[in-house]
Amino acid sequence: MCGIVGYIGSREAYPILIKGLKRLEYRGYDSAGVAMLQDGNITLIKEKGKVSDLEGLASSSNKSGSLGIGHTRWATHGPPNQVNAHPHASQSGDIVLIHNGIIENYATIKSVLTSKGYIFRSDTDTEVLVMLIEEIQKNEKCDIAKAVRLALNEVTGAYAIAVFSKKEPDVLIGARKGSPLILGIGEKEFFLASDASPVIEYTKKVVYINDEEMVVLQRNGEFELKTIQNERKTPYIQELELKLEAIEKGGYEHFMLKEIHEQPKSIYDSVRGRVDIENGKIKLGGLEEYENRIMNSRRIIIVACGTSWHAGLLAEYMIEDLARANVEVEYASEFRYRNPVIDKEDIIIAISQSGETADTLAAIEMAKKQGCLILGICNVVGSSIPRASDAGCYTHAGPEIGVASTKAFTSQVSVLFLVALWIAENKGTLSKSRIQEYLTELELIPSKIETILSETESQIKAIAKEYKDASNFLYLGRGYNFPAALEGALKLKEISYIHAEGYPAAEMKHGPIALIDDEMPVVFLVNNSSAHEKTISNVQEVAARKGQVIAIANKGDKVIAGMAKHVIEIPETEDALSPILASIPLQLLSYYIAIERGCNVDQPRNLAKSVTVE
Ligand code: AGP
Ligand code: GLU
Repeated sequence: MCGIVGYIGSREAYPILIKGLKRLEYRGYDSAGVAMLQDGNITLIKEKGKVSDLEGLASSSNKSGSLGIGHTRWATHGPPNQVNAHPHASQSGDIVLIHNGIIENYATIKSVLTSKGYIFRSDTDTEVLVMLIEEIQKNEKCDIAKAVRLALNEVTGAYAIAVFSKKEPDVLIGARKGSPLILGIGEKEFFLASDASPVIEYTKKVVYINDEEMVVLQRNGEFELKTIQNERKTPYIQELELKLEAIEKGGYEHFMLKEIHEQPKSIYDSVRGRVDIENGKIKLGGLEEYENRIMNSRRIIIVACGTSWHAGLLAEYMIEDLARANVEVEYASEFRYRNPVIDKEDIIIAISQSGETADTLAAIEMAKKQGCLILGICNVVGSSIPRASDAGCYTHAGPEIGVASTKAFTSQVSVLFLVALWIAENKGTLSKSRIQEYLTELELIPSKIETILSETESQIKAIAKEYKDASNFLYLGRGYNFPAALEGALKLKEISYIHAEGYPAAEMKHGPIALIDDEMPVVFLVNNSSAHEKTISNVQEVAARKGQVIAIANKGDKVIAGMAKHVIEIPETEDALSPILASIPLQLLSYYIAIERGCNVDQPRNLAKSVTVE
């Protein structure tokens, strides 16, 4: 994954790079590094750990230069140490490069270059690319732009790179294939970045670089966009809509907590303009063009990873339940490699917060080749998945910076609920009045979340204190609450490093029940009317074995009150919408347990927000 940032212009590059890297740190935080060019000399500073560690190291160094590149790493090749940190320099030290992605044929190139006398310092695949550029430049006696272009024709895999040479102090080059790269265009200055966040306070004019394209940026304000096959392209300059406040913490201690609290608004934004209660209609402008094909499809196949996969599982329940359409849910990483039987009768719905997840993107490309229609449900506007899709809907949750997904998940579920209702409306599987009821309930969700936030947060903090030292957690739910249980368990694992499993409540007796003893906290989602009684029986089974039951239940549920150690009350809603409400206390529980354990909730170990490698 990794975050990359580059600058060329007349300002000091270092502060721009550092600020940009802090915003991109969600993408990886194994190490960080910068390289600036000043008076023909490159200053290269890199450090293991976070951007703040790099700043500490750099505090006493000369950091001037108005051309520079910076990197925050999520290691794929080689351990997270200082040597493997980017930027990587060529043999002569003349060329420096940062990279997000994986050079798949690095081993072959490395052995050829080694036989020619190149000495590699790091274990990374990236270093191979910078050496290759130098070798090509030496042989071709060409400028850096041509050497980069030719080198990119030799490599397979994924990359977003930024590179410069001290011999050409007025040129910065960027290129991409598979990993994201944005060009920001200012007044005689340019910015390169993995996403728009490092750019927004300097310019709103951006170009989303496409796969196999590169930009050659000149300090005098001229630039050229071309393919790596050397075909010139006309840049499509877009206005950024992102606002600076949206990527700042706004008084909260962590982005995750801010994002949990933003959910009334983010869900409102996801639904806004898409609902016509009076006429019982759903307006999904992005899908209308393909209405016939969607309604006549044989199957809807949902592909996603992680939390987005959980939203996909909920979508399966919703679309089957409300619209009676045939749905399958696939882990993108499995689907793409297992030769699935799909064709043009099938519709793919790809769900992704970042819109950059490599496995999801590859699954889309594979399905596209088989003739499937591709619909993207994504949060990041202009990211790769929406651009690779035929149509789709943005979730409009706003930027999500905390690595653990919270508001993006509930917005995905809200939008997928609308997709289910839209199909139901078109297929006539629900009456107008039933659709109106569902839409009315959806509109109430933001205020119900407000209630949960104000009524349960202090109770959850206390529960977190009690269970902070548990080594395992079980999360159980039936029906719509099963995917919510999976998501609750994932949240806890991700940020508190406590092992947690989500299970269908009724499956517990087929195995996990053996784990129950008086030290095992079991979070039960019983807030679902249709499965309530059955779930209560499962609660009894756990309570009988002295498991510590923490129940998420509807207000006034007297039955559960007598059985559970703790009951967190949430308002009632439609079954299909209950996972949204249940997710709020689950998010808070994992957040406060992680805080109690002193974990870094926004940047959990080993994780990155956007997984742009396989
Ligand atoms: C969520 O908390 C996780 N960090 C992770 O599972 C994530 O949902 C997954 O990597 C998919 O990301 P995407 O939605 O950006 O495609
Ligand atoms: N492959 C490079 C490394 O390991 C970049 C990793 C990435 O972009 O995730 O350093």
